[in-house]
Amino acid sequence: MLVVDLGGQYAQLIARRVREARVYSELVPHTVTVDEVRRRNPLAIVLSGGPASVYAEGAPRIDPAIFELGIPTLGICYGAQLLALSLGGRVDRTGVSEFGRTELRATEGSLFRDLPAELSVWMSHRDTVVAPPAGARVVGESSATPVAAFEDDERRLYGVQFHPEVVHTAHGQAMLENFLYSLAGAEPLWTPAAVIAEQIDRIRAQVGSERVLCALSGGVDSAVAALLVHRAVGDQLTCVFVDHGLLRKGEAEQVVELFDGVFHVPLVHVQAQERFLARLVGVTDPETKRKIIGEEFIRVFEDEARKIGDVDWLVQGTLYSDVIESGGTDGVAETIKSHHNVGGLPDDMTMKLVEPLRMLFKDEVRRVGEELGMSERMVWRQPFPGPGLAIRIIGEVTGERLDALREADAILQEEVRRAGLYRDLWQSFCVLPAIRSVGVQGDSRTYGYPIVIRAVTSEDAMTADWARLPYDLVELVASRIVNEIPAVNRVVLDVTSKPPATIEWE
Ligand code: XMP
Repeated sequence: MLVVDLGGQYAQLIARRVREARVYSELVPHTVTVDEVRRRNPLAIVLSGGPASVYAEGAPRIDPAIFELGIPTLGICYGAQLLALSLGGRVDRTGVSEFGRTELRATEGSLFRDLPAELSVWMSHRDTVVAPPAGARVVGESSATPVAAFEDDERRLYGVQFHPEVVHTAHGQAMLENFLYSLAGAEPLWTPAAVIAEQIDRIRAQVGSERVLCALSGGVDSAVAALLVHRAVGDQLTCVFVDHGLLRKGEAEQVVELFDGVFHVPLVHVQAQERFLARLVGVTDPETKRKIIGEEFIRVFEDEARKIGDVDWLVQGTLYSDVIESGGTDGVAETIKSHHNVGGLPDDMTMKLVEPLRMLFKDEVRRVGEELGMSERMVWRQPFPGPGLAIRIIGEVTGERLDALREADAILQEEVRRAGLYRDLWQSFCVLPAIRSVGVQGDSRTYGYPIVIRAVTSEDAMTADWARLPYDLVELVASRIVNEIPAVNRVVLDVTSKPPATIEWE
């Protein structure tokens, strides 16, 4: 089915919720033409919310001919207003806005089938539908919004003023599923197993009998992409794992064990730690570190690719959110793409790209990874920056400082996991600042490194809240770090959110 993007972040969230209902969904821009919709022949259409007023100049519009195609269409918030406005209803600026939790009284309607008559829903609007589209009946109201939901079963058009896709709306998912299953006749067939089968066919058709190369970063995306390709074309794939020595403790071993030991994927493990460290001597500027690591990565990868010989295809772990953010759907959502992965490969490589994750969101990649048989540990790994520990060491990266940080980080990870919090946190890690401080151990003074504990919760890394780790856990981690790592004599906790801080320290 199609989600028409009317601005903001709503469309992505709706697409994800639809996929959670195991129905495949894709984002399209509001400028999509009626012919394009007809060509795609979707089971259903959802019009997203959006931040604009329908009366604002340049506010996104949709060709009303799309509403005449007989395709079940659900308008949400701005989408519902647009539907009403295009089809003879009325939208007013009533002067009463509704933001946040609101009580909705639902009357008999197909959208609310089997749901309570009183629903707590999430609203965020200024304009209000005061008359539904011609022929539609009102099936829900709130105190400020007389037309909070409307339905036209004959034309298969539906609208809700609230946001069923946000978690604060009670039974929001059930309502979306009523729309998808009962009204649009969709079936919950889009499972990780179905994704794998589809991708295998696609990769085989694309690659034929040619050779494929994949750079593994240690993260979940490149691992899942590589395993999918391996399932599809077996040993036509060679993976190159450039170990830059900036990974967390045990990570490199896990990659080698998984690919070589478990899945028997042809793997070149390049031990390039010394090469990277040598290039980082004396470097303290964060962006210079990133640049050097990125360049060195490419150099090492190219050297290996040359040794492997003629290869036609390169695997990239591009995700659907990358596609959306880089405007691949022509969405109106404006997004800032600030970081390029170290996996970013040279522009002049002449290989063709295989991108098996191009239509998947991150959580879907994880589910596919689980289905492929990857370990829980690898699949649920928190995001980790391409330049690795180098940008968590403020100042110069030396072997000694890397060891101290890696050990501290391992202690934090171990205790966070033991406390059952690992998957609740977006990221949890340690930082090594460029200072030393005085301490006392036994009878002697020490002059050692401090370690910063950084843990955040977040949905997408654009904003983040510092995680309220239990004090007992903080204490345990702190005392283990100072006791087990001689170079460290102090542990501090970062209690800043993003903004104004960033998640990483560099
Ligand atoms: P910040 O620190 O900007 O980080 O709040 C947002 C997210 O991006 C990750 N990050 C990076 N990822 N290369 C990457 O691949 C980088 O240079 C880089 N810098 C930050 C960070 O871990 C967080 O998830």
